[in-house]
Amino acid sequence: MIMIPDEKKEEVRQAADIVDVVSDHVKLRRSGSNFTGLCPFHNEKTPSFSVSPKLGIYKCFGCGEGGDVFNFVMKTDGVGFEEAVRTLADRYHITIPEKEQEVYDPRQHLKDGIYHALRFAGNFYHQMLAESDEAETVRAYLKKREYPWKTVRKYGLGFAPDSYDGLLKAAESAGVNLEYLHESGLVKAREKGGGYYDTFRNRLMFPIFNPSGKVIAFGGRTMSESKNTPKYINSPQTPVYNKSEVLYGIQIAKNEIRKAGEVILVEGYTDVISMHQAGIRNVVSTSGTSLTNGQVRIMKRYGDTLLMIFDADAAGMKAAVRGISVALEEGMGVRILSLPDNEDPDSYIRQFGSEGFLEVRKNETRDFLRFLAGMARKEGRWDDPVDRKKVLSEMLEAIAVVPDEISRQNYIQELSAISRIGDRALNQELDVLRTRIERQARRQSQRNVSPGGQGIRVSGTGGTYREKDVQNTAGRTEPGQPAPRPGSDRNGSESTGDRNVQPVHDEADRGAGRDRLSGMGSSSGRNERSPKRPFRRPEYEKELIRLMLTFGERLILFVGSHCNEDHFEDSLLRNLFMDIIQQYQKGEPVTVEAYSRREHPYPELIGEVVLERHAVSELGMKKRGVTIHKDSDPINTARGALKSLKLRFLERSREKLHDDFRDAAPERKSEIQDLIIKLTREQNRFQQEALQTLFPEEAYSDDNE
Ligand code: UTP
Ligand code: MN
Repeated sequence: MIMIPDEKKEEVRQAADIVDVVSDHVKLRRSGSNFTGLCPFHNEKTPSFSVSPKLGIYKCFGCGEGGDVFNFVMKTDGVGFEEAVRTLADRYHITIPEKEQEVYDPRQHLKDGIYHALRFAGNFYHQMLAESDEAETVRAYLKKREYPWKTVRKYGLGFAPDSYDGLLKAAESAGVNLEYLHESGLVKAREKGGGYYDTFRNRLMFPIFNPSGKVIAFGGRTMSESKNTPKYINSPQTPVYNKSEVLYGIQIAKNEIRKAGEVILVEGYTDVISMHQAGIRNVVSTSGTSLTNGQVRIMKRYGDTLLMIFDADAAGMKAAVRGISVALEEGMGVRILSLPDNEDPDSYIRQFGSEGFLEVRKNETRDFLRFLAGMARKEGRWDDPVDRKKVLSEMLEAIAVVPDEISRQNYIQELSAISRIGDRALNQELDVLRTRIERQARRQSQRNVSPGGQGIRVSGTGGTYREKDVQNTAGRTEPGQPAPRPGSDRNGSESTGDRNVQPVHDEADRGAGRDRLSGMGSSSGRNERSPKRPFRRPEYEKELIRLMLTFGERLILFVGSHCNEDHFEDSLLRNLFMDIIQQYQKGEPVTVEAYSRREHPYPELIGEVVLERHAVSELGMKKRGVTIHKDSDPINTARGALKSLKLRFLERSREKLHDDFRDAAPERKSEIQDLIIKLTREQNRFQQEALQTLFPEEAYSDDNE
């Protein structure tokens, strides 16, 4: 089975610089002969994560994660061992023989398979651009745009030929698994007669990379003059590509961002490349969508301030305004450079050269407050006192989302200077806004801990799923269905800019450096999200979901009657749990197959829940030569998992109550103390009583009365 020879592995290990690799995800600081930083695998405020370049290993003394450079890539990219070796081999320019097809285990290696297909396509397109006759006009086009070949190579640009099966045929004869090619979005299924056809045709291809340099998607600019074809098309969402968490150019920009401390955000692929060319290399773009929290968190791994460059037209301005608050909310400093109408950095640089660009950057960059004030002036809203009051409120609202207090005060001082209004008056307004934000945050986190909104609901039979609960829940959250944020998604396809997708972002963002000052004097919920352990979703939560999906009605009723979504800590699993209940209530099929056909993130999540366990257990079983025991009594398995779920939930409730207690007004304290006592009793009960007593099987039929 093992396709990569041991010497090769060692060669890769030797070549790979673990500090460099880890630095894609963690801001490391030297400490003696080691490096330390905030652990990317759990949520922490003080660094307990340590990297030893000498030993080639990392270790977190907080959560226990540790391993070598391969383990790190496996965990952060979510791939298997072999793919991790290949990723690093690519990165350090070591050639490894292609793997044979049968290495793919279709279940466990979905992501690996997709990465492999994408890598193949990237090479294919690039080679087409470099060598094929039909790409002659494209090479001329690039010359006209003043992209030297060196840049073309650096960004891995390519050409998708004007044919329905150019890529398809090449992939087929190279032995690339076509199903993975399909999963990667590069070919589409024919409507009739089976088979596939190329998604990208006659397009200049911009591969999109993750920070460690793996191709995860493509954007393709049409080379056709026809008005009927969209200017750009982009890869669809796939298990390895969630566009709201991706920044184009990050693999090249990351080190420059680290050096500059600043990220420059532009709108398009071509802008990134032209700016790089002009010597400004800390540049990324969002592929035409509005900026998301997830993207800002990726930026924050590398730098603390953001310079957004926008076209001064109405759409550009609107996008800028929205981006400002997303970035502020994540604790970044924000500046804006607006270019004249209808100019983008690429066109500007081509007209005025890099000196011209540096000049305009120097003269026209504004911090966000001055930018907003300038915009209001332009719109004539600054001169009229009524309008101006509104403008000031908008500016205060932007300040209010900033998580740390010192920054907020700095902004207030500046706003005071801009508006000539005393900082006391401004602060009064700000306090009102902050109170509202904090109240919302508290409500949010209470909803996560105690569904009732006050006190806790911990009894063995209460707080479980019944018809009514399900309906309420349905109105409250719609897992997997983010409402589109109106406006600047220029793709015309689904918008991923919405903050309702938060749970999804949370999962991917574990590496994001948190603002160390953020706790100061505030209890903003946004910065006190429940602990994130994305790649280690609680086993017992996964197990409950797995049982419901595997055993259907009996287990859905059993599990659903003994817990509710608030007991789930992992936000994705929580949404999935709710969705299962809803599907079941609607009489829809609740099976692994059904979910595997649903939209992102279900297929990956289901894969994680179902396949991992099976893979592991089956392997273990085979080794020991036994048949499967694990599921012989699924109800009892569920009981064990429910117990862990409840105990963890009670623990979280307790932490929450302790926090509340600390902050509570004196007259509330005894009330909270009573709740803590009740909760302790409940914890003891769950620890001591027999599983059957805690979780009787008939519970749901009683509840249905
Ligand atoms: P632009 O239309 O400004 O294109 O879209 P551009 O990058 O400047 O390209 P040139 O200079 O005309 O060749 C900006 C970005 O918006 C996204 C792309 O990421 C593009 O780079 N976009 C635009 C789409 O995703 N789809 C579209 O149809 C158009
Ligand atoms: Mn352009």
